[in-house]
Amino acid sequence: MALTILGLSGALTHDPSAALYIDGKLVAAAEEERFVRDKHAKNRMPYEAAKFCLEFAGIRPTDVDAVAIPYAPISLLEKARWHYARRYLYAPDRALDAIFAGNRRYYRYKKRIEWCLTQLGFDLKKIEIVPVEHHLAHAASAYHCSGFKEKTAILGIDGKGEYATTFFGYGENGKIHKLKEFYDPDSLGGLYGAITEYLGFEMLDGEYKVMGMAPYGDPKKYDFSRLATFENGELKVNTDYANVIGFRRYKENGKGYYFSPRLVEWLGPKRIGDIADDPYIHYAASMQKLFEDLALQMIDYHLGDILRETGRLAFSGGGALNVKLNQRIIARPEVKELFVQPASGDAGTAVGAAAYISAERGVPVEKMEHVYLGPSFSNEDVIAACAKHPAKPRWEKIDDVPQRIAKILADGNPVAWFQGRMEFGPRALGARSILGCPSAAGVADRINEQIKFRERWRPFCPSMLDTVGPQMLGCEHPAPFMTFTFNVTDEWKHRVPEVVHEDGTSRAQVLERKHNPRYYDLMVELEKLTGNGVVLNTSLNRRGEPMICSPTDALNMFYGSDLEYLVMEDIWATKTIFQE
Ligand SMILES: [Fe+2]
Repeated sequence: MALTILGLSGALTHDPSAALYIDGKLVAAAEEERFVRDKHAKNRMPYEAAKFCLEFAGIRPTDVDAVAIPYAPISLLEKARWHYARRYLYAPDRALDAIFAGNRRYYRYKKRIEWCLTQLGFDLKKIEIVPVEHHLAHAASAYHCSGFKEKTAILGIDGKGEYATTFFGYGENGKIHKLKEFYDPDSLGGLYGAITEYLGFEMLDGEYKVMGMAPYGDPKKYDFSRLATFENGELKVNTDYANVIGFRRYKENGKGYYFSPRLVEWLGPKRIGDIADDPYIHYAASMQKLFEDLALQMIDYHLGDILRETGRLAFSGGGALNVKLNQRIIARPEVKELFVQPASGDAGTAVGAAAYISAERGVPVEKMEHVYLGPSFSNEDVIAACAKHPAKPRWEKIDDVPQRIAKILADGNPVAWFQGRMEFGPRALGARSILGCPSAAGVADRINEQIKFRERWRPFCPSMLDTVGPQMLGCEHPAPFMTFTFNVTDEWKHRVPEVVHEDGTSRAQVLERKHNPRYYDLMVELEKLTGNGVVLNTSLNRRGEPMICSPTDALNMFYGSDLEYLVMEDIWATKTIFQE
């Protein structure tokens, strides 16, 4: 009998997603935002995503053995609720809530999941819903998906789950053991989020922009050490400044923020607009440095012994998307290999919760080798979408996609690239991407002019052949998911300048052919033309939109931008008259 576990995330009102494990194999996974075309799909349940997973696998609700959810009731006997109550004494109603009604959110969420399952055709009397603590789900999405066989240190950093904000543990023989947790408001991820808000971005969305801004600033100019301390194994965030609720919040135009008026008194007005100037670039640099330094101290204190024993670390939670921290972790002598769950935000907890329950029921899950887990579309689907589209696109079926597209790229043109199954997680990895030739001067600017309109200080990233990775990055560490930055070697800085960041690093995807043959072959063709088996790769979407899912989404985006070339499977669509 097959063991079929459906994981559903969305407990924290953002990033709902679904993931389906059948007999330990991750058959399908997708984020709700892609289907409903609403970034982060806030306050939604993963209805479309779950529907896709079941349909893709060709199974019915009655075939599912259990639904795993990454949010669980927390006992009053645990430290979590008491810590919260004590630290939020200045907001007595919330503090008392944590003691007397501390699982209210869980019950509210469970009701919504039950509603969603009913809509999907599940019989609530027959289906078992299994709660998994939020940080255990993050931990499982890292450890169980890592494929590591040795004893593995596990780290989780996010804003917060039920109460926990940070998780330290280890995995051994397929089992996860919890060593230590920190609780709200003592959250390093939350602090980064608060400063993200102060710097004018949205929390749970703009953190990577702060990270992109940081290299332009000087972290020594402003000392941020007062914001948080790590002593005797405990993290303490200074709630005079950040991670605040209730009356301590800074308010502007009726909106309350996660930082306090005192932070504004200290650092000056909250940043507005797209500027990346003094002093805000220095604040970004200081926050990034504090985050890295504290995270490394925490890792050393709580996980150092395990790392010195086996050198394996599995990392998840929103904080694991901090590619600069990850670079510093890999540089530690005791770390031999770091696995970062590619969907480290809350979308990945659907995978984690399902993997956790699968493993607990005796079916260990396979290593997560790639993220091509979403819907795919045939040439016929693409042609039908073109026929239906009001812009009446010109299209042609071509049989040499890698060669043709490589030529267009080498001529300095951006190309919208839509191939195979959609990626799971926030990174475009060659299934729904906008591509450019990284040695073509000005291509990043052209992509910005035609579609992305990104802040000028935000870098574009490279995908590269596995034969090129070690030469360009000077490092053999696996990098399949764009979860790490690397220092680019001097020679390659000159060869592919369009994908090297201000500080000389690149957030790289190093691709093995077996995971995406067509994308790999494209880079091989580009290498023949330019000498570099590297392509500039950014996600296929307009600013503020979720990544493209279907051919119709791609056509809408194409005609809502100045892009000239779009290739979907073997169908090449352009806005210009064909040359040949
Ligand atoms: Fe989380």
